[in-house]
Amino acid sequence: MTSDNRPIGIFDSGLGGLTSVRALEKCLPDENIIYFGDTGRVPYGTRSNETIIQYSMDDLAFLLRRNVKAVLVACGTVSSIALPTLSEMTDIPIVGVVEPACRNACKDALTDNGGIAGNIAIFGTQATAKNGAYTALIKKTNPAFNVSTVACPMFVPLAENGYIEKGNLITVEIAKEYVEKLREFKPSSLILGCTHYPILRPNIEIACEKVLGYVPKITDAGECAARSVKDMLAEKGRLCIKREEEYPKFYVSDETRNFTNIASAFLGRSIRSVTRINITGQAQEIPGSIRNISFNDDTENKE
Ligand code: DGL
Repeated sequence: MTSDNRPIGIFDSGLGGLTSVRALEKCLPDENIIYFGDTGRVPYGTRSNETIIQYSMDDLAFLLRRNVKAVLVACGTVSSIALPTLSEMTDIPIVGVVEPACRNACKDALTDNGGIAGNIAIFGTQATAKNGAYTALIKKTNPAFNVSTVACPMFVPLAENGYIEKGNLITVEIAKEYVEKLREFKPSSLILGCTHYPILRPNIEIACEKVLGYVPKITDAGECAARSVKDMLAEKGRLCIKREEEYPKFYVSDETRNFTNIASAFLGRSIRSVTRINITGQAQEIPGSIRNISFNDDTENKE
């Protein structure tokens, strides 16, 4: 059996992608993981497509400098808007969250759980809702499915600021407002299309129970993508045999203290150390294509 001990790169606009790190660590405990959270520029979901593409090119460039063997784009917004551009930047596999999530939700949509079979709802950021990548893929899979997308702009600030404990009154109230938009639609399946949302899942479920009277089958987009990375690496014979001591490594683009405080809730355990880096312009510093370029990396400021 062949193997590949290079790390897997994961990035997100902030903390949300840590829910995918958690899922990846669960299904691939021996892998070396490098995580980048763009905490200095979060949120992405309220920004223009041009800005989201530019930011995510920087994020990917940063990870490519660390000689990763694959990248998980643990951000629904970036996966919806920038995946084709990012895939153009390199030959290594780039996995987004949209496709694996849609595949799972299409399976779940036929479940009889109180909702209408074939009705799939998506919770996502404003940019994700506007872009419609989830909807397009579901419709392509099965044109008979109905899709309803709800933009949930308050969820990311709630998650990033720690309004996450089960039953949090503010979070449940806001979740109820979003679920209210699905009252008539009655989804059988609900995609949490932003990787920040799984941390709010217990409160989203409470809101569903209160407003809809049932909880649809929930798809965690980041978790599905982590399983996809596992399958892809296994198929290519590129799994890692043994994790090295210094991994996982965490990088952010702002204050490290804020990150470590809340990150443990996303990750389900504490983080030993995190490094702050300057992300702006990472993609521009590289002349032409970043394909097959080897990088030197001494630009970090440890905090
Ligand atoms: N976690 C991100 C997503 O999956 C983005 C949230 C944001 O930055 O707005 O969409």
